[in-house]
Amino acid sequence: MNVGILGTGNLAAALGRAWAAAGHAVLVTGRDAEHAREAARRIGSAAEAVAAGELAHRADVVVIAVAWEGLEAAVELVAGPSLVGMTVIDCTNPVDFATGAHKTESGSAAETVARLAPGAHVVKALHLFAGASWPYTAMPQAAPVVAICGDERSSLETTAELIADLGAHSAVVGGLASARQAEEAAGFVMRVVASGFNPRRAVPDVDPALLVRAPERLQPAG
Ligand SMILES: NC(=O)c1ccc[n+]([C@@H]2O[C@H](COP(=O)([O-])OP(=O)(O)OC[C@H]3O[C@@H](n4cnc5c(N)ncnc54)[C@H](OP(=O)(O)O)[C@@H]3O)[C@@H](O)[C@H]2O)c1
Repeated sequence: MNVGILGTGNLAAALGRAWAAAGHAVLVTGRDAEHAREAARRIGSAAEAVAAGELAHRADVVVIAVAWEGLEAAVELVAGPSLVGMTVIDCTNPVDFATGAHKTESGSAAETVARLAPGAHVVKALHLFAGASWPYTAMPQAAPVVAICGDERSSLETTAELIADLGAHSAVVGGLASARQAEEAAGFVMRVVASGFNPRRAVPDVDPALLVRAPERLQPAG
């Protein structure tokens, strides 16, 4: 796939490197052309810095990895007719790191993207794990589960495929209207970390025999 990344910081570089290692071509853009070139250098030879206006034309999927404060401006750089029908994966964390609170009164970053890019098929994903988590290569039986939400099945499948390439499973936890809950989960994780505990231990361990089996799963990893 040609994976287009909007964002030139640490998450963009980490995801770009992991997807490049999985065989994808990576296109990077942002508000600053030199930052985009630097991000492409950090990712490696499979990456290319492109002008913002080119991203949607050349990418098969667009991944958004920018600061919440810059989200609207950044999406406006790439939005346009070529985003219509395209999978757009929003990784933004619109939560206050100190308090864990969502920075908006209502809605979500992912729904903001959907509003700014009408016709794009937005999926919320990959906001909860540090970029350094990817690719996950340790024990397949303990592979991370990435909660994703979106309204278009084909875009959920594309997202799950890219997440499988990172070594993780995808769990579809709802439509795009569930994105706020997924984003607030990042705030919850931060609060547990701030209290000195590993958030892995802050959710119940469920006996596998009790798990309700989804009738079908999207691209299980491994
Ligand atoms: N790092 C992680 O491990 C991780 C994991 C999950 C989710 N996230 C989320 O992913 C997003 C990016 O995180 P990061 O760690 O990569 O941050 P970062 O290294 O600080 O990079 C921030 C990116 O956002 C851009 N940006 C900031 N303000 C902007 C504005 N006003 N207009 C346009 N672009 C703007 C920056 O562009 P410039 O270079 O031009 O400043 C840069 O490309 C955040 O929402 C973060 O919460 C990060």
